[in-house]
Amino acid sequence: MKTLVSFFSAQSRKTADLATALAFVLGADRYEFKPDPPYTPEDLDYNNPDARVNREAKAQALIPIQGRIENFEAYDRVMLGFPIWWGAIPLAVKSFCKGYNWTGKRVCVFVSGWDDVSRFAEILQPYMEGAEILDVKLFKGPNTPEFRRWAEALKT
Ligand SMILES: Cc1cc2nc3c(=O)[nH]c(=O)nc-3n(C[C@H](O)[C@H](O)[C@H](O)COP(=O)(O)O)c2cc1C
Repeated sequence: MKTLVSFFSAQSRKTADLATALAFVLGADRYEFKPDPPYTPEDLDYNNPDARVNREAKAQALIPIQGRIENFEAYDRVMLGFPIWWGAIPLAVKSFCKGYNWTGKRVCVFVSGWDDVSRFAEILQPYMEGAEILDVKLFKGPNTPEFRRWAEALKT
């Protein structure tokens, strides 16, 4: 079975750390996606009403994503990682998902932050039609027992 660990990480590379650890444990390929152009620290300053993230959140339109996974169809299983933004899924994630054919993919979602993710599978599903979302889990970091147990259990 071929597994891809795809992820978006912006503020403090916390999701990137989770993705790196997961890709290592699973022996999987790792792919980081970014908006086009990538976010600068000023873009992420959510305390500023004029910051790019606030303008994008207000518009709620999908945004351009840099680059492309050429062999996406080769993967049976896709891990999707991202931080929680305003208790929700960042637009970069929805925009990334919309760009691929998810039919038949098995998907596990890992989220970095401290909020409620109980509705995330339902919210993501329309952006990845045909995917089977098996799991959505929230983690504080790669060095927690919860994360290590979860990653080990995904080894097959
Ligand atoms: C625009 C924005 C909104 C955020 N909103 C939340 C939130 O609602 N709940 C939360 O727990 N963290 C929130 N955070 C913090 C990040 O989700 C959290 O620090 C995450 O672990 C960062 O992951 P990263 O370093 O991979 O970007 C927000 C961060 C940003 C930039």
